[in-house]
Amino acid sequence: MSHFETILLERKGRVGVITLNRPKALNALNAQLMGEVVAAVVDLEREPEIGAILITGSERAFAAGADIKEMAPKSYMDMYLDDWFAAWDRLASARKPTIAAVAGYALGGGCELAMLCDIILAADNAKFGQPEIKLGVIPGIGGSQRLTRAVGKAKAMDLCLTGRNMDAEEAERAGLVSRIVPAADLLTEAMATATTIAEMSLPIAMMAKESVNRSFETTLAEGVRFERRVFHSTFATADQKEGMAAFVDKRAPKFTNS
Ligand code: CAA
Repeated sequence: MSHFETILLERKGRVGVITLNRPKALNALNAQLMGEVVAAVVDLEREPEIGAILITGSERAFAAGADIKEMAPKSYMDMYLDDWFAAWDRLASARKPTIAAVAGYALGGGCELAMLCDIILAADNAKFGQPEIKLGVIPGIGGSQRLTRAVGKAKAMDLCLTGRNMDAEEAERAGLVSRIVPAADLLTEAMATATTIAEMSLPIAMMAKESVNRSFETTLAEGVRFERRVFHSTFATADQKEGMAAFVDKRAPKFTNS
């Protein structure tokens, strides 16, 4: 178990599980929680036996947004000088695969936290939205950018300008979430997905993640060139030799992360 106060951190096999744990505030993301999630991610990134990171909340709320009560009295200078929310960039730059298992509310910063992860699995009761406009602010953890890339301009504008929620089905249709599962099965399914990924070769999974992410940052031609170079580099690994030998021998591969 963990020494954290606003999250639980567990290692389950090769999966690091971060559970947001401020139930009375529907897991609102205050500065302490942000610091603890980031510290947990830094720890898990350092641990060679961890191959994937799962972030989840409760059945009622993944996270109902940044902590409004904490932010309400702040001035422009408070926000600017502290570079409020910038610490979340560390999650965006995690090199190991990250999965968000979302049940209940994923609003504002909660939706943005899910979008900082590589894959979003949604329970059938999940609700996504960027309601900041109703508070007189706009998204501040990348929502206007990542939501637009995930679901396109029309729906991102609709959500950011009206502040309405979108249910799990709409989120799946729009391409925000990879799969919907019954709420009761969310953690089991998410653990199964995380374990599948964590049992692959870690360096190869990291290269796959880096290559997909590159598509958000560059042109198609440059992205394809980047992918090809990384693909070539997989042939410098023992895991490429093992993966292909195992296929030829009709057996399961034993990856050594080397
Ligand atoms: N910040 C602080 N506290 C929050 C919170 C938040 N984002 N969301 C919920 N809470 C608190 C409530 O204040 C309440 O606390 P008290 O019991 O002390 O009053 C407790 O959690 C339970 O919430 P509700 O009683 O409101 O529960 P509900 O079931 O009636 O409603 C809800 C649930 C629709 C999610 C509602 O809580 C809500 O609208 N929350 C705010 C959603 C929001 O606006 N999120 C965006 C925040 S701004 C942001 O995220 C900026 C950014 O881009 C990073």
